Amino acid sequence: LDQENVGSLKQQIAKLFEESLRLTVPDELDVEPAIAPCQNPRFGDYQCNNAMGLWSKVKGKGTQFRGPQSIGQAIMKNLPSSEIIDSCSIAGPGFVNVVLSKQWIAKSIQRMLVNGIETWAPKLPIERAVVDFSSPNIAKEMHVGHLRSTIIGDTLARMLEYSNVNVLRRNHVGDWGTQFGMLIEYLFEMFPNGEVNDQAIGDLEAFYKASKQRFDSDPAFKERAQKAVVSLQGGEERYRTAWARICEISRRGYERVYERLGVELEEKGESFYNPYIPGALELLSQQGLIEESEGARVIFIEGKNIPLIVVKRDGGYNYASTDLAALWYRLNEEKVEWIIYVTDVGQREHFEMVFTAAKRAGWLPAEDNKYPKASHVGFGLVLGEDGKRFRTRSTETVKLVDLLDEAKSRCKTALIERGKAEQWTAEELDETAEAVGYGAVKYADLKNNRTTNYTFNFDQMLSDKGNTAVYLLYAHARICSIIRKSGKDIEELKKVGTLELAHPDERVLGLHLLQFAEIVEEACTNLFPNVLCEYLYNLSEDFTGFYTNCQVVGSSEEISRLLLCEATAVVMRKCFHLLGITPPPPS
Ligand code: ARG
Repeated sequence: LDQENVGSLKQQIAKLFEESLRLTVPDELDVEPAIAPCQNPRFGDYQCNNAMGLWSKVKGKGTQFRGPQSIGQAIMKNLPSSEIIDSCSIAGPGFVNVVLSKQWIAKSIQRMLVNGIETWAPKLPIERAVVDFSSPNIAKEMHVGHLRSTIIGDTLARMLEYSNVNVLRRNHVGDWGTQFGMLIEYLFEMFPNGEVNDQAIGDLEAFYKASKQRFDSDPAFKERAQKAVVSLQGGEERYRTAWARICEISRRGYERVYERLGVELEEKGESFYNPYIPGALELLSQQGLIEESEGARVIFIEGKNIPLIVVKRDGGYNYASTDLAALWYRLNEEKVEWIIYVTDVGQREHFEMVFTAAKRAGWLPAEDNKYPKASHVGFGLVLGEDGKRFRTRSTETVKLVDLLDEAKSRCKTALIERGKAEQWTAEELDETAEAVGYGAVKYADLKNNRTTNYTFNFDQMLSDKGNTAVYLLYAHARICSIIRKSGKDIEELKKVGTLELAHPDERVLGLHLLQFAEIVEEACTNLFPNVLCEYLYNLSEDFTGFYTNCQVVGSSEEISRLLLCEATAVVMRKCFHLLGITPPPPS
């Protein structure tokens, strides 16, 4: 049971076919095995789809093969013997179908139970990555879009971390715009002797609105505000202090949200990259990328109607110049191989232009499948019941903290209705309501293909039926209670018991468990967390199939089946963990 982990199931099958292909077509060294799960499980578990493509490659070259079928036959014959494969067959024009050995599936699962789920971590070709996510703007509201970015970014970071990638979780907060001139000037006006405390500008949003109003209605104030920007960017002490104060107050607000969501982030805001902008622009300039246009300095990008402005007409830098400097910094100072930006789809154009500029400058390779790589993870809008941008009754926009509060309190009400207030302590009730409530909000977001808009609906996400976190957490708790109620010591069983997959429903569940690694790999290389949600939901379905048809406690297969229950619970917990969901303590 102590054999070393050798990658995901799919990778292990691919390895066998790689060897076979080397023997079958020794002159075609660049051919990679094309392995996919079988469309129809009646034919097998996985299939190798290389034969057709190979045939078109070799047919003109005086080959011994008579067609794709005969290539398929040879691929099958040349497979090295392995305990992984039970049997193979050829279908259609040379597809090689593989039926996996259920003894081997069982053994692999048992090995994971003994050595831990970390041994199932996918292997990725990179060591370091930046995930740039959440990234609210100081003094402006942190809206649901930022909640989506926070949730999606966190889960991507978690999946990469699980895959042993060193992830720099970056909060690229907007802390350096021209709005600071106005804010600082207003601060000076409101608190002439500098006695600002949290309460005084506790509601930063209101403060922002008030200063904006002043800015728009009083030309003298406006002029002072514009000068204040210059003073701030010039590093004048008084202005720097006021700026830091405003950032600090804002930061405390969004850190409350992160704490509730259990999300870790390291702030490196726009201001951090400011000193690197001139250098980065100089490099781009040397490459002849920057041109003068209508008084601004810009980069023209092929196929785009508008250029990327990197120095404004007034000489100031902007969002794009900051992003170019940050990209340079991340590649050259932090030496990361992959930079992932999580924002709404509305910023796609911006990132396309920034990435294209970086490619033309030679900072990034021209090919998208090579590292270092930059990827934009765009997501759609959060909609309300009315199909419009999500808002709450009382306010124009949704305060994130209120939203989380409501999820929690609704959960608490549901728990109390189920009589939990009598069984649990107040802390237990609270802890569970929090875990389920926040988990529900996250899962409702993550289960959708991120590029689409989704409708925010408390009733739906907190339902205990259907594809919801509540249902899945409940399914997990039920599995744990089956194990607990058996009265067996599961840790002991892992060591002395044997897992067997005799019943067809056991085999289906076992195979699904073994596919965990390749699903995580797919979800984080293609940057689609919904793939993992789908996997988790199907896992609970497969478990139900198994549990409906296979008696666990009291059967002659009890030990084996308890091990299968435990493996399911372990994988489910890892899924929850990767999705940022905390299962409530057992009740
Ligand atoms: N602050 C921006 C916003 O709220 C998001 C920043 C995303 N990251 C970046 N490197 N541009 O829209």
